[in-house]
Amino acid sequence: MISARFLGHSSFLIEREQKAEKVLIDPFLTGNPLAGARAEEMKPTNILLTHGHGDHVGDAIQIAKASGAEVLGVFELMNYCQAQGVKNVHHAHMGGKIKYPFGWVKLVPAFHSSSTPDGAYAGSPVGFVINYYGHHFYHAGDTGIFGDMALIGKLHRVDTAMLPIGGTFTMDIHEAVEAVSMLGCRNVIPMHYNTFPPVEADPEEFKRRVEELTGARVIILKPGETARLREMVEAGV
Ligand code: NI
Ligand code: MN
Repeated sequence: MISARFLGHSSFLIEREQKAEKVLIDPFLTGNPLAGARAEEMKPTNILLTHGHGDHVGDAIQIAKASGAEVLGVFELMNYCQAQGVKNVHHAHMGGKIKYPFGWVKLVPAFHSSSTPDGAYAGSPVGFVINYYGHHFYHAGDTGIFGDMALIGKLHRVDTAMLPIGGTFTMDIHEAVEAVSMLGCRNVIPMHYNTFPPVEADPEEFKRRVEELTGARVIILKPGETARLREMVEAGV
């Protein structure tokens, strides 16, 4: 089984038993009142950063230095990570598909902004399509809804989407339901809600609406909880 552990806010750890590769996304743990793990527990091989905001970069620098994990993200944000002393960085940008022993990671657009915790320009924000041992994840990052989510769903079979539902800085529930329908995904895990007051949403309402209006299944995870997902054996990109 492939597991996706929700660490709170937009952070996930993707792993598979007996495989070395552990993919950590947007590790905002220290300072997150609802963190599902401590930064010191994290021993990833790969860290993916959607953008430079503090609630996404989080503990990435420290975890990367301690673990030696490779950090992947857009050019400007990787320059920032290098300047902070991270040696193993992978500069990329939207459209790039980076191959790894577990599969590949593709950078896709997100409609948001991106600056580093010290206020410097951090390039464009992105989302990721991740092929992890055949299971295709789409982590949207921080984004408003956009019509080309349908294109992501056309180009890739999306098995599990992680979508923000908290509003104010991202999509809200109403838009995220439409995103699910554009993506044509099988599973969806809501994120970026209820961490702090400006982002609030009822994940049960999201689940009701998605399951009423689309064929997707909503998996609500409390911080620290893990979704066990099937390995996908059929072909598809
Ligand atoms: Ni942000
Ligand atoms: Mn955010």
